[in-house]
Amino acid sequence: MYKILIMGPQGSGKGTQAEILAKELRVPAISMGALLREEIASGSERGLLAKSFIDSGRLVPDNLALDIVSERLIKPDAVNGWILDGFPRVLSQAELFLKIFKPTHAILLEISDDQSVGRLSGRLQCENCRAGFQMSHVPPKVAGQCDRCSGNLARRSDDVPEIIRQRLGIYHKETELVVRLFEKMGILRQVDGSRSVEEVAMEIMRLFVA
Ligand code: AP5
Ligand code: MG
Repeated sequence: MYKILIMGPQGSGKGTQAEILAKELRVPAISMGALLREEIASGSERGLLAKSFIDSGRLVPDNLALDIVSERLIKPDAVNGWILDGFPRVLSQAELFLKIFKPTHAILLEISDDQSVGRLSGRLQCENCRAGFQMSHVPPKVAGQCDRCSGNLARRSDDVPEIIRQRLGIYHKETELVVRLFEKMGILRQVDGSRSVEEVAMEIMRLFVA
């Protein structure tokens, strides 16, 4: 059974690669960030709390993130495995998470901070189906319009240069410690995330068909 964590700095392609791998392995791709943005869109109290943290580039409180991700991972479609992107990000989350869930792999996508900022500054997302685009690397066929569903493309509220740097700072200070933990556990696989979407996807697939 595959229980795969996708890790990496902001804009390294966690969401992009999780979706591709999920189709290949026939398990759901679950994104912590997307779950939080859905919670915000629902107008719930939890969403209202999450918004203030996300918009300022800070992590939401551990208990909020853990509650939301646990509720998602116990849904029926995840009983035969899952791919989870963006959780855990701090050691305290990892400790709580590992008491309940047993990941089989942690894939680390590596890119430089300059690439992070470059990719996120040009990221667009469909407001309807959530498909992702990038102005320079993965442009939509028609400007401002989703290739998949013709929905409107928009920027994420936290994709602003100073907020991206704040998020990267937390990644280097906190999340890299979680990466080292998975390395010690022997489940970490490192992948060069700086190449094209297709090349990165091929390298990840090779980890599972050896
Ligand atoms: P989240 O939504 O997870 O944001 P993130 O970690 O900053 O990562 P991104 O989604 O920005 O990047 P990605 O790696 O998924 O890259 P993508 O595939 O989109 O979290 C948002 C916020 O929620 C956090 O800041 C925090 O506030 C909160 N949160 C989340 N998890 C939390 C937790 N565990 N605890 C507490 N709070 C939490 O790709 C980026 C762009 O590049 C796209 O435009 C894509 O099209 C393009 N692209 C992808 N791959 C390539 C490639 N190979 N070449 C060129 N372009 C590419
Ligand atoms: Mg993402």
